[in-house]
Amino acid sequence: MAKQRVQFECGNCGHLSAKWLGVCPSCNEWNTYSEVVHKKESSKKHKVDISTVETGDATRLSDVKPNQNSDRFSTNLEELDRVLGGGLVRGSFSLLGGDPGIGKSTLMLQVAKKCPEMKILYIAGEESASQIKQRAGRIGLIGDNLFVSSSTQIQQVVTQARKIKPDLLVIDSIQTVFSEQLTSLPGSVQQIRECSAMLQQIAKKENITTMMIGHVTKEGDIAGPRILEHMVDTVLHFEGDKNHLYRLLRCIKNRFGPAQEVGVFEMKEHGLEEVSNPSALFMSDTEAEVSGNAITCIMEGTRPILVEVQALVSPSNYGTPQRTSSGFDQRRLSLLIAVLEKRGGLSLSGQDVYLNIAGGLKISDTAADLAVLTALASSLNDKVVSKSLLFIGEVGLGGELRKVSFAEQRLREAAKMGLKKAVLPKHTAVNQHLLKLRPAAFISDLF
Ligand code: TYD
Ligand code: MG
Repeated sequence: MAKQRVQFECGNCGHLSAKWLGVCPSCNEWNTYSEVVHKKESSKKHKVDISTVETGDATRLSDVKPNQNSDRFSTNLEELDRVLGGGLVRGSFSLLGGDPGIGKSTLMLQVAKKCPEMKILYIAGEESASQIKQRAGRIGLIGDNLFVSSSTQIQQVVTQARKIKPDLLVIDSIQTVFSEQLTSLPGSVQQIRECSAMLQQIAKKENITTMMIGHVTKEGDIAGPRILEHMVDTVLHFEGDKNHLYRLLRCIKNRFGPAQEVGVFEMKEHGLEEVSNPSALFMSDTEAEVSGNAITCIMEGTRPILVEVQALVSPSNYGTPQRTSSGFDQRRLSLLIAVLEKRGGLSLSGQDVYLNIAGGLKISDTAADLAVLTALASSLNDKVVSKSLLFIGEVGLGGELRKVSFAEQRLREAAKMGLKKAVLPKHTAVNQHLLKLRPAAFISDLF
């Protein structure tokens, strides 16, 4: 008879322990242990006789036949194709993560709408079929090509997939599918591990392209065991700001193409709309020129995006002046303020500093440093910086301007958006005549 045994399992890496632990010895995560009940089968069953094991012959790589069907097919959504590296690879096994309500389900339904010739099996664990229908109506999808199933038992999912043989299998979400052979609840580490392993086999053996939707933890990681991310071919992350309508689809891992590619969408009344020119989205609309604004160009993947940095410097009413930033790292802002004071000769003590990236974008590209400093100086001196100027350059602690990567792409994008002149680090090698260049070696040359 099967014995029951209580163990504790790390929710991050799946490490097992007989006792509850505060910190996992395997992955060093805190507070990840929860109780799990294992059914222990009689140990005799598991004894493997090596003489009966199948040989599992290794093959010379040169003798391996390439999979004839391993071609890509387009999702007809240009932004999604770009992130995937040119479309979905047949038989690939992917994971799409993101905050609740960001538009993961909508994105998958829009693939169904855009590809009427593609057969899609949609496992709806989060919503009922009628809710899906309602949403489909909203985005204008009729859905002759879309098969919806609310059964999330993994064996049934596999049966359905074998019967329907879809071009694309969508699991919405991996946290809702479960295997009856396990006693733990759907969403637990074992269930996710077991179910995703079965789905992986379906994808690889039957060549069914599979897209799993996954929840995201508070820290922004994909919930469930880390092995999930190792198992899949592609990890996509859908992110955005609750207060803004734009959504960024980021590729974190891609076995079939470049990672770090970014697709931009905007959530509209009738679903997600692709944004082919994101620079226009993140620049503020007003023609009026005010002090405290400076334009820079950041790279998202291989894509240059123009953004406007806005600063407000005003005398502080309190002893300790405030430094607040949104969309830009607060510590980097403090560092840049210190550089501006020490190397640029401007005094910001006794001044509150507010920094904002227009459009709600979060930027981490250090090429924006120079624009941040310019915006601060502009606001402090109440001097307008022309909207036809581009500022790119990383700022070092000595006040020196450091070279940035992809300088040419950035300048080309700026020229496309109608900018006239670029301020950039001195030794940047650029070979273009679209913009007038104003090289500088130190920030003191500028302020
Ligand atoms: P959804 O795809 O359900 O998010 P997820 O699957 O990631 O949880 O997105 C739902 C959100 O999108 C919801 O807040 C409503 C909004 N939405 C629109 O604004 N327009 C639309 O056309 C649709 C379908 C949804
Ligand atoms: Mg959903």
